Amino acid sequence: MTGQTDIRAGQPVYGCMGLGGTWDSVPYTAADIAHAEAAVEAALDIGITVFDHADIYRRGKAEAVFGELLRRASGLRERIVVQTKCGIRQADGHHPGMYDLRGQHILRSVEESLARLCTDVIDVLLLHRPDPLADPQDTAKALTSLHEQGLVRRFGVSNMSAAQITHLQDHLDVPLVANQLEMSLGSRDWVEAGVLVNTPAAAENGFPHGTVEYCHARDIQLQAWGALAKGRYTDGSDSPTAQLLSDLAERKQTTPETILLWWLQRHPARIAPVIGTSRPERIRACRDAVTREPELTHEEWYDLWVTARGGPLP
Ligand SMILES: NC(=O)c1ccc[n+]([C@@H]2O[C@H](COP(=O)([O-])OP(=O)(O)OC[C@H]3O[C@@H](n4cnc5c(N)ncnc54)[C@H](OP(=O)(O)O)[C@@H]3O)[C@@H](O)[C@H]2O)c1
Repeated sequence: MTGQTDIRAGQPVYGCMGLGGTWDSVPYTAADIAHAEAAVEAALDIGITVFDHADIYRRGKAEAVFGELLRRASGLRERIVVQTKCGIRQADGHHPGMYDLRGQHILRSVEESLARLCTDVIDVLLLHRPDPLADPQDTAKALTSLHEQGLVRRFGVSNMSAAQITHLQDHLDVPLVANQLEMSLGSRDWVEAGVLVNTPAAAENGFPHGTVEYCHARDIQLQAWGALAKGRYTDGSDSPTAQLLSDLAERKQTTPETILLWWLQRHPARIAPVIGTSRPERIRACRDAVTREPELTHEEWYDLWVTARGGPLP
């Protein structure tokens, strides 16, 4: 069985964290499968072909219900890119939650994800978070082995800085092709970092300055988690940002959700939004972010940024 392998700059991704039922170890139900099926159908219907998972989402149940859908829908696997992540270990009564990028953990996690997803290859594997204790040589050796065995096609990272990517890449022959970070009109540190240089406010900005430029320059796809800002601007609130989104949507004959996603895609790095709502009607509201090029002028893009930050740029 083979899957598509391409991820492209700006291409929206469907985030599967909301699928699979509860976050505890209670097994998923038929209703959870139906919920996942409706979400995946809506995502496919608007043209999304990349699906984002993690071993930990709903304690493995997000991958498991998705695997169930792949098993049932003949030919679906060949039409989509399956991305998953490893490297976070949840608290388990003996240990606190921790990060684990040791080779042995990665190999075990991938084996389990492959089984849950009912597939024989993962198209893109992201290292979920940096593990300060992991030896990059050991991590890289595991990734190389997975690649050589044909179990994973491409690799990327998540929540990592430019320096952390370099540190790992220095030990790895296969290129890192993606970095998934929290980026949206609501979480703006990634863009603020670039203009706060030389200002006192820079001290409060936690984003690793230069990471966006680093990824852009090296064709490392930037994926934005939290891209819809959890509905903060599109759930009927009457904030100035929500109002502006709705005015722009009317002018461009689209939805406020699309404007929100276009704001990321319009950046020269062509940020790929990860869409995390599981409600079919909310997924369908994102259609134009998949089917149309972002239609925001320079002025409109800044207008959105300045309105969301609630004050002028430095
Ligand atoms: N790499 C990482 O560390 C990391 C971290 C978090 C997430 N992710 C990935 O990114 C994806 C998206 O992240 P996210 O879920 O935090 O962000 P999001 O897409 O901004 O928000 C979606 C979440 O907000 C809820 N929501 C409430 N009102 C909403 C509205 N009006 N419109 C849209 N959503 C609304 C959704 O619930 P309903 O389902 O009921 O709509 C869902 O739980 C995840 O699925 C996952 O794949 C990655």
